[in-house]
Amino acid sequence: MSETKTNTRVSEIFDLFYKHLNNFLKEANPNHEEYTEFVKWADRLGRTGELPLFMDVFIESSVLKNMYADKPGTEPSLLGPYYVEGAPILEKPYKLPMRENEKGEKLKFSGTVKDVNGEPLANTLVDMWQDDADGYYSSFDSDAPPYNLRGRFYTDENGYFEVDTIVPIPYQIPTAGPTGEFLKMIDQHPYRPAHLHIMFKHKGYETLITQVFFEGDEWLESDVADGVRPSLMTKLYDGGDYKKASLDFVMRNEE
Ligand code: DHB
Ligand code: FE
Repeated sequence: MSETKTNTRVSEIFDLFYKHLNNFLKEANPNHEEYTEFVKWADRLGRTGELPLFMDVFIESSVLKNMYADKPGTEPSLLGPYYVEGAPILEKPYKLPMRENEKGEKLKFSGTVKDVNGEPLANTLVDMWQDDADGYYSSFDSDAPPYNLRGRFYTDENGYFEVDTIVPIPYQIPTAGPTGEFLKMIDQHPYRPAHLHIMFKHKGYETLITQVFFEGDEWLESDVADGVRPSLMTKLYDGGDYKKASLDFVMRNEE
């Protein structure tokens, strides 16, 4: 049987939370009916499995912004609720696993991974995942096979990688449940701009979890989950019967 011990960090964070919560409640002054409605809604949030979604939409971004303010390197962005561990390790030429007739525009995405001094980071593990042309992530509300549009591969000796995939589309977070109910009440649309999820691992460096966004997307300014950062923008170019885009990434040394 595991024994739960005192945790001073939890205690410290809870004290702060409780202090601010009480000030907040004084100011917002909810009545008892509002309080019980909130508890019912929060209970639905948990029961429908939307708690990670809600947390990642409204809280994860602020945690990351505070952690990485004034630090060098590529800005981290949301892991989000749709990461799946253990995606297939790909062979060159890299192509994310996809269905035979995967819908969507073909995309050749490339980039380099360097350290904060500009030295290339060879053999960095790149883990990528994204939505399909219907706006679904495999393994979540999707009929696609497991690990569809999810894959892992390595940078070459110059820290360079190139991978074939499809252009992601703007993502609409689920609207049918308690998260959507809440968004309607605060008059916020449910869209995220189109993005690639990408994670880099290299021994001796901080794991970089981030996203890539595309210039011109209509939701960049009002991303429901506030994931867009200036250093994460790229541009789609025409490559003939496919699009291409690239971005360079900088990993921080482990502290
Ligand atoms: C969230 C993040 C994502 O990257 C995404 O595609 C969908 C939802 C989120 O923060 O909940
Ligand atoms: Fe996403």
